[in-house]
Parts: sequence; C-alpha cells; structure tokens
Amino acid sequence: MATSASATLLKFCFSLALFCFPFIAFASDNHTHHQYFFQCLSLNSANSTSISKIIYTPINSTYTSVLDLSIQNLRFRTPYVPKPLVIVTPLDVSEAKAVVYCTRKTGLQLLVRSGGHDYEGQSYISSAPFVILDLSNLRSITIDVEDATAWVGSGATLGEVYYRIGEKSKTLGFPAGICPTVGVGGHFSGGGYGSMMRKYGLAADNIIDAHIIDVNGNLLDRESMGEDHFWAIRGGGGGTFGVVVSWKIKLVVVPETVTILAAVRTENVTNLVHKWQYIAPDFPKELYMSLILQSAVGQDGNPTMRATFNTLYLGGVDELLNITGTRFPELGLTREECLETRWVNSTLIFSGITGQPLETLLNRRSNTRVYFKNKSDYVKEPMSETVLEEIWEWILKEDPGVEVMQWEPYGGRMSEISESALPFPHRAGNVFKIHYMTSWTNGSAEESNRHLNWIRSFYGFMAAHVSKSPRSAYLNYRDLDIGRNNEYGSTSYEQASVWGTKYFNMNFDRLVKVKTAVDPDNFFRNEQSVPPFSQFSQCDSGSYIE
Ligand code: FDA
Repeated sequence: MATSASATLLKFCFSLALFCFPFIAFASDNHTHHQYFFQCLSLNSANSTSISKIIYTPINSTYTSVLDLSIQNLRFRTPYVPKPLVIVTPLDVSEAKAVVYCTRKTGLQLLVRSGGHDYEGQSYISSAPFVILDLSNLRSITIDVEDATAWVGSGATLGEVYYRIGEKSKTLGFPAGICPTVGVGGHFSGGGYGSMMRKYGLAADNIIDAHIIDVNGNLLDRESMGEDHFWAIRGGGGGTFGVVVSWKIKLVVVPETVTILAAVRTENVTNLVHKWQYIAPDFPKELYMSLILQSAVGQDGNPTMRATFNTLYLGGVDELLNITGTRFPELGLTREECLETRWVNSTLIFSGITGQPLETLLNRRSNTRVYFKNKSDYVKEPMSETVLEEIWEWILKEDPGVEVMQWEPYGGRMSEISESALPFPHRAGNVFKIHYMTSWTNGSAEESNRHLNWIRSFYGFMAAHVSKSPRSAYLNYRDLDIGRNNEYGSTSYEQASVWGTKYFNMNFDRLVKVKTAVDPDNFFRNEQSVPPFSQFSQCDSGSYIE
C-alpha cells in the first residue's frame, strides 16, 4: 500500500517536472515569448492595428513612464526590481480578455494593475517573466441617481468615484478609502475601509455585482460567476480570482452637510488616547473619529507626542459638539476647529489636501511619493496608560513625524456584519485597527534598513497588546513579512495559511475552495494570492483540508 502511494507520489512529482521543464527552457527566451504573445494578441483582437498602440515593451521610449505612472512605493521603483516583458493598457474589455487568454497561452505570468497602490508592489513585480495588464483606461463611471447605484471601472481611482458621485448628487456618497489616488480594482478586492465605515461598512460590503474575466478569458457577471466566486472577489484579495473589470456599487445616503475636523493635541496625550479607546468605538455610527499618533517638536524644543483626532460626522456641527461635549469633554473640541461642508468636499480635505479645487480629486497620481513600509494589527482590548507610554517611547526615539500610527475605531456597522459575510473577517470584537507607517525619502540601503528595522522591531513589541492566534492583519495593508507563497513551485496549505489566516481567519479555507474551483492551475497568482488545493505540493508535508 505504502509502496503504491509512494509510486503515485513519485509519478506526480515527475509529471510536475516534465510540465515545468519546457516552461523553464521557454522562459529563458524572452524574445520568443514576445513573439508568441504578440501573434496571439493580434489573432485574438478585433483590430490588430489598434492593439499595437496599447502595448509597451522595454524598447518603447514610453515603457518606463507607463510602468512608473502608478508605482506608489519608491522601494519598488529601483533598477534592481524585476520589470515586465510587456505592459498592456486595454481600451476596452475585449482587449483585456485577449490579454488574459494570450498570457496564459504563452505561459507567462499575468499581473493586474488598477491603481498601483499595493504596499508590496504585487501588481507590478514578479520574479517570473510577466505581463502587466494595466486597467487605467477602463475607468468609466456611470451613476444612476434614481436607483442609487453606479457601475465603476476598476481602473478608476477613489477620487474619481467621489467626484462623479458629487457631480450628480448632494445626498449620495460611497464608503471607501481615504486617499483619492487609490485604485478601485485592488481596493474593492481587498475590502476597502474609510471614514464612513462605522455607518456603512467597507466598500466591499456595498458591492452588488461585478464583471470579471475568468481564467479562460470569459466575461462573467454575478449570476454567471455564482455566489461563491462573487463572495471571494469582495475582500479575498486582488490578482487571485480573475480580472474584475467593473463593479456595481450601492451608493449610500449622506446629509447635505457633514462636519469634519482634525483636532491636534500635544498636551495630555496619554490620557486622551486612553479614553479614546473606550469611547470612539461606541460613538453613534455617524461619528468616525480616528487617531494619528506621531512625534513632534514641543514648545520647549524637545520631542513630544502629538495626537490628531481626524473626524467625520455625518451631520451638523451643533450635534457633533453636543456628542463630544457629553462623551469626550477632555478633548475640549471647539466650533472653530470644525468645518461644515458637502460630503464630496470632505473626501478631498480628509485626504489632507486643503486649498485646492475639487477637481484635484481627479488627479491620478499623488504628488508625494516616498519609500515606505506599513503593517497592521487589530486590538481587542484597550491598552493601559503604561503601555501607551511605552508605545510613545518607540515613536519618540525616531525623527519627529517620521514614524506614524493610525488608529481606526471599529464598532457601528462593522460590528453588525458577520465574520463570514465576506472574506474580510475583522468585525465584532475589535476595538480598533492599528496601521503602522514608516516612510523615508532617501533610498540608501542604510536609511531603508533603519526604517525597516524600526517598524519590524516595534511590531514585535506590540505582539503582547494586539489580537492573537491569529495575529490578524488587513489584506489591503499588504505585508509580506507575515508570510508568503513560494516564488517557484507550489506552496503547502500550511505555508499559505500562515499569512492566509491572518488576513482571512476562518474564511481562508472557503477561499481555497473557491480558488480551486475557478483557477485550479493557479494562473492568477502573486506572493500572497490564495493557492488552489491542486497547487499544494504533494512532495512536501502540506496537509489538506477536506
Ligand atoms: P494595485 O493596482 O497595486 O492592486 C493591488 C492588488 O490587487 C494587486 O495584487 C493587483 O494585482 C490586484 N488587482 C488590482 N486590480 C485588480 C482587478 N481589477 N482585478 C483583480 N485584481 C486586481 N486602503 C484602505 O482600505 N483605506 C484607505 O484609506 C487606504 N489608503 C491608502 C493610501 C495610500 C497612499 C496607499 C498607497 C494605499 C492605501 N490603501 C488604503 C491601501 C489600498 O486599499 C490597497 O493598496 C489597494 O489594494 C490598492 O488598490 P490599487 O488598485 O491602487 O492597487
């Protein structure tokens, strides 16, 4: 019995090797790859002349600028980072379908890019020869005010979505992320939280249909992809279950006037932050008060902690002052600190842009690009003042303003949605989420190492004070430190579940099942994409889920 099982296993490993050898030989000849890929594209495109205008290879003078256009993290913009053989920027869905089909046929890897904001560059970096399918031209936004819905192309940015909604209505909005240049494609695929999450949940909670190109190059909608597949694409991570070309979103009601503020405090910070942990997740759903914690130079010239209470209230200033005056009098919030405005204006100001026209929301590219490394955590119990003081020490030992923590209050709608409703499991039981951010502008190895070491050590220190078993993390704050797939060959279930359970908790197994059904050969993949059962190596000790 054992001998026969080993023989079967051996045969399997050999068949894998036979399958891989021609590919490896083929992969060494990038020129041949190009030729096959282009021939396939022209054979499968309605107009082979027009398709040549949306293809960029390293011999094109515009290749580098097209590649760089949406790279957000400068850590991945160096000459040492592997570059794509080809970038294709389709103008319509049929061209995108042809790219999927031909990339698979040619044996290349496909990376899908919408806004390019992935923290670890997973939409434009791979160690295997690869093609970038850049969706930045598929960005149409069609709004149905009567129905309070919209179809949004994956290549649109959040800023474009907010602007177009604001053009059509003063009382509709959409609950998604804070930075306007983030792309819809990756953001919706990973969940997508923003300043209305306590009232309406995540962006993914408000998606009601989608158009996706599957592994065979077919275009599917919610009905034809089926509910399991539709569940997986709303939070299970981009680059894994197909190419989503557009999303139907449910718009939400916002008052004509909202109130925003950024209250900066450098006095009594420990006490204020300590209290915030108890009250911010318990405020009315309409009130979102997040925290930015960083060091600043105090009046005496010494480093001091600074807390900024970034707030959106879906209502007028009087009501807001009433709530904060009763529940958080220590903050001492004044009317002068508050601004009443339209919701769409609040999206621009909340992103830190002031004194600019609303059209700034349409800028695709952020003006400030830096080297950065971010991480995330979920907090289940408020921390003591002593622990807070220890945290301040970590922040204060670096240069003022450089190391930043963002604390996002949970509660409200986030606690009402079940953990399994979508792949994103971080719901009731979380007090707040931590976003650790370190950034720098000088890309020298010394400077990079200093910041990377700081954030990794600090994250280590925080282990005792955050969620455990698993230590949860937010997929859209992608962090390859928490585990990754093998670059070459298959990844065991055990290995993938190291990072998978942190992002998805018990939803990871269902994601694996969906992946197995829709992409058994793991065509759509990256270093943290959910692998199918069939890819778990039978040559290692990986276990299987029934
Ligand atoms: P990008 O194009 O890099 O894609 C990210 C991943 O999704 C990649 O794996 C990619 O292959 C895949 N993908 C992209 N488009 C796809 C498609 N159409 N179909 C299938 N797969 C696709 N998050 C948050 O929740 N709230 C926030 O406020 C912010 N703010 C923020 C600010 C800044 C400056 C950055 C850099 C990032 C954020 N984020 C965020 C995180 C952001 O939500 C996350 O990085 C998203 O994945 C970015 O989506 P993009 O389309 O821009 O990324």
